[in-house]
Amino acid sequence: MTKNVLLTGGSRGIGHVIRTLFIDAGFNVIAPSRDELDLSSEASINAFFKSTMAEYDVVINNAGINIIKPILEITSEDLQLINQINLSAPLQIIQHCVPYMKGQQSGRIINVSSIWGVRSKEYRTLYSGTKFGLIGYTKALARELAEDNILVNAVCPGFIDTELTEKSLSESQKEELLKQVPLNRLGKPEEIAKYILYLATENTFITGQATIIDGGFLS
Ligand SMILES: NC(=O)c1ccc[n+]([C@@H]2O[C@H](COP(=O)([O-])OP(=O)(O)OC[C@H]3O[C@@H](n4cnc5c(N)ncnc54)[C@H](OP(=O)(O)O)[C@@H]3O)[C@@H](O)[C@H]2O)c1
Repeated sequence: MTKNVLLTGGSRGIGHVIRTLFIDAGFNVIAPSRDELDLSSEASINAFFKSTMAEYDVVINNAGINIIKPILEITSEDLQLINQINLSAPLQIIQHCVPYMKGQQSGRIINVSSIWGVRSKEYRTLYSGTKFGLIGYTKALARELAEDNILVNAVCPGFIDTELTEKSLSESQKEELLKQVPLNRLGKPEEIAKYILYLATENTFITGQATIIDGGFLS
């Protein structure tokens, strides 16, 4: 039977490549646009699940935003927005999807965190707060949901060649940064997507892990 995947952030970047890879692998991929599912609003998330059946075999919480600011420039709106999109929305989505997975006694949840969810850097307070938090959710849920054969993992991309990276780094910062990446290049979105596909298909014993895919940057 064709398996259903719910994917957030499938419009571009890593998410777009995940979407293509899963479709090619035979999955039915539901990748709502921001108009259909606005992660900055809990009301939009509730409305989305009211209008559709939450029968997903795989959930991929991929969408995310980055706000890079020194501590004294962070506003309460920044805090609310990034916490809702990067941290609360994945949990709210999981809450909607877990009842079906429990009924099936099977499920795969994959949360896209970041290298900045494992270590951090100046001005990444907001982003790191959410990405560390997402790994915390992943580990706790992996333990709680193991009895239902629902495997929960996180993936931590390093510097990947996407729009988010382009916006976050100047050319000189990029050059400087590549010197610190042992493989001396940005990662390709495919290199993240392929591992996520593995977690959703062949993986039967990895749960509660946060896998770093960064060309050796954090090694
Ligand atoms: N790129 C990297 O180097 C890198 C490194 C580490 C971790 N990551 C993580 O990987 C994930 C994907 O990153 P990316 O670089 O592929 O991102 P991206 O190219 O900036 O795309 C972000 C995606 O999130 C969606 N999104 C943002 N706000 C949303 C909202 N309020 N409601 C619904 N969707 C929303 C966007 O939809 P729209 O098209 O509607 O804006 C878009 O599909 C993120 O969680 C990011 O933190 C990326």
